[in-house]
Amino acid sequence: MCNLAHHGNEFGFLVDVPEIRGLIDETHRLTAAIPDARKRVDALRPAFARLLAADGWLPKEYGEPDLESGMGGGIGQYALYRAEDGSLCLFSLVIPPGTQTPIHDHLAWGLIGVYRGVQDETVYQRLDDGGDESRATLEVARQQTVRHGEFYTLLPPLDDIHYVKTVSEMPSISIHLLANDTACVTRHRFNTETGIVTPFRSGYSNARCPDQSPDH
Ligand SMILES: [Fe+2]
Repeated sequence: MCNLAHHGNEFGFLVDVPEIRGLIDETHRLTAAIPDARKRVDALRPAFARLLAADGWLPKEYGEPDLESGMGGGIGQYALYRAEDGSLCLFSLVIPPGTQTPIHDHLAWGLIGVYRGVQDETVYQRLDDGGDESRATLEVARQQTVRHGEFYTLLPPLDDIHYVKTVSEMPSISIHLLANDTACVTRHRFNTETGIVTPFRSGYSNARCPDQSPDH
């Protein structure tokens, strides 16, 4: 099913609730005030924790799998807020039980936390110099289990390549605040056995990318 937002409301607050406005307003304030990405992300932690701890703000349909998803595996990716200039987005990622994402990157700083269910995250470090866009040599840097209210940060190139898997019996829902329009930028999938890197664009389940046709 296609859950495209109607009436062209595909940027700004696709879900307009005080909890999301609070986090986005704080992100804009801190982005203007703190040039250093690491310090900015640290300063954002309390506001991000508040959103994960709050209840009742995520519409039910944005917490359900999407069988037509661009990520595959029924993984739903729902835009909640998108800056029109592509500098910031907030989205929910819904991963059915036992399903895992491809190994992928994000290409932006940000925060990712679990809102429902439990995810295992496996983070990779890149051993090559990144000079060849079509190949990469990765090794597992660490694995962690992430539960409701827990979150981690991305500061590319640090910790930017990972995959996550739902290990709860219910679908997991993670909330992503990232400094790009994540689903619309060309990112990369990594195959650790062959070393092959494949460009991909996940797309949102509920909104179009700027160059996507109306019937995508
Ligand atoms: Fe990810």
